[in-house]
Amino acid sequence: MYTQNLAEPQSSMIIREARPTEAPALTEIAFAAKRYWGYSDAAMAQWTRTLTVSARSIARNPTWVAADATDRSLGFCMVWTDGRAWELEHLWVAPASIRRGIGKALLSTALQFARARGADSLRIDADPNAEGFYLACGARRIGMVAGPIPEDSNRMRPILVIDLGSPNQDAGTNPGLPSSTT
Ligand SMILES: CC(C)(COP(=O)(O)OP(=O)(O)OC[C@H]1O[C@@H](n2cnc3c(N)ncnc32)[C@H](O)[C@@H]1OP(=O)(O)O)[C@@H](O)C(=O)NCCC(=O)NCCS
Repeated sequence: MYTQNLAEPQSSMIIREARPTEAPALTEIAFAAKRYWGYSDAAMAQWTRTLTVSARSIARNPTWVAADATDRSLGFCMVWTDGRAWELEHLWVAPASIRRGIGKALLSTALQFARARGADSLRIDADPNAEGFYLACGARRIGMVAGPIPEDSNRMRPILVIDLGSPNQDAGTNPGLPSSTT
């Protein structure tokens, strides 16, 4: 289990595997985190399906929770793979816990897991507001895609990749990945 000390008031947390029964709590964090960027209700509505975490998706995909000393969830992440390509499917930190190192710790756990299973890179279809976080964590941008929302028809989303340092790297091609929450 991964543990990390944080600045007060959250003095410590653990990162552990998520349980399928936590799907409603993780869905709540995903919606709250997305809304952190000030999106309109109409924009939020268009992400309802992709922000909703099912018990089945937790059972099928590697998923970790960052929890405080009372096992309260502070954030979570999920990765998806078809056995070849690896994608970050979810990474959300509850608004009250943003910028305390939790996102970095969750991402680091996912990267270690993927690397140990032979992944050479992790692809991320990111919210534009989160790009700086991913760049700070070693990602590089490989493209941009249209991500229009009701309040901004010109909105674009960055496509990022984090290299994991093994041979046979092919980060730019990743067909058939699930739809994005971004
Ligand atoms: C984006 C998110 C996952 C980052 O997690 P976090 O716990 O807030 O970030 P951390 O505290 O671990 O920050 C790690 C590093 O990234 C930097 N960083 C964090 N958020 C950043 C941002 N939005 N822009 C630029 N840099 C950022 C930090 O300064 C820190 O840098 P350092 O390691 O040099 O000190 C979290 O803020 C979040 O859930 N945001 C709202 C929802 C969202 O956009 N999720 C991602 C969807 S793709």
